[in-house]
Amino acid sequence: MIFITGGAGYIGSHACVELINAGHEVTVFDNFSNSQPEALVRIERITGKKPNFVNGDIRDGSVLAEALKNSGASAVIHFAGLKAVGESVEKPLSYYDNNVLGTLRLLEAMTKCGVKTLVFSSSATVYGDPQALPLTEDHQLSATNPYGQTKLVIENMLRDLYRSDPTWRISILRYFNPVGAHASGLIGEDPQGTPNNLLPFVAQVAVGRREFLNVWGNDYDTPDGTGVRDYIHVVDLAIGHLKALERLRDHQECLAINLGTGIGYSVIDMIKAFEKASSKVIPFKVAERRPGDIASCYADPSFAMSTLGWRAERSLEDMCKDGWRWQSSNPTGYSHS
Ligand code: UD1
Repeated sequence: MIFITGGAGYIGSHACVELINAGHEVTVFDNFSNSQPEALVRIERITGKKPNFVNGDIRDGSVLAEALKNSGASAVIHFAGLKAVGESVEKPLSYYDNNVLGTLRLLEAMTKCGVKTLVFSSSATVYGDPQALPLTEDHQLSATNPYGQTKLVIENMLRDLYRSDPTWRISILRYFNPVGAHASGLIGEDPQGTPNNLLPFVAQVAVGRREFLNVWGNDYDTPDGTGVRDYIHVVDLAIGHLKALERLRDHQECLAINLGTGIGYSVIDMIKAFEKASSKVIPFKVAERRPGDIASCYADPSFAMSTLGWRAERSLEDMCKDGWRWQSSNPTGYSHS
């Protein structure tokens, strides 16, 4: 049994599907703060299995410990957290509260229940402004905003915990830019309000929910002047979690691992690819750079290969086709309004 915080969310729901398909039982612990109960219904439609579910907030230590104990889980995958950079600048305390305090409560609950295997959702944001590309796991760590700080604090907390008790088994997965959706088109990213991230915004333009895309700057030091990122199919990312769990079965360690493809695509590359996948025109306007954005960011994914035997298999075309299938069959996400 695997206990999954934030299992109704974008990455969590895809991980549930892969885990269930691989024969695991799962218990989802979620408060639907940025997700919908319908995601769990869809997981059942895809897999034929209903995930166990507890409605709760990770900051509520007693509810969490009770749920973890009752689940009988042997490992935790911790997705729950807030993730909008701009919002984190406006509401830093909310980010420290949900992400840092929530994770602290989770680690306490795990200690109490004797569950010492954890896969944690970190982010390439912990590399700050890249000093060298591609990014390897030993690149220096820094944070440029409160969201990134919370990921860094949690990573440090996990390393300290492991140092104090080396019987823990911890995998820190540093995600690059997750995009796309399950090939069924039944689950996908469902941002509340105006999307901050590129692909959900592009998809909403394609489906007619928004008029045009703002391209945040075309004067970066990149081949076409627009920002370059390592976009990774969310199903590949989800499978990375399975592989991490497999490895922890026979490793007591605390290891940080990049989950990316190693390939950088620009904003313009992404617009073109999405236009092709959707057969829609994506109108865009070039606007000022977004404060805090970096020119380029992409992974060296070789450590994931050597440690997990994992590499991303899905192409840019798959990312856009699957993202479009989800968006076009669920134009307003999980809500039917
Ligand atoms: C952002 C966060 C990062 C977080 C990640 C996952 C910032 C500065 N960084 O990464 O910390 O881990 O999301 O949630 O917010 N773009 C446009 N127009 C748009 C949206 C994006 O041109 O409307 C461009 C951006 O300038 C960037 C690229 O698209 O070059 C990707 O942006 P985005 O999807 O927001 O991801 P990151 O900025 O890489």
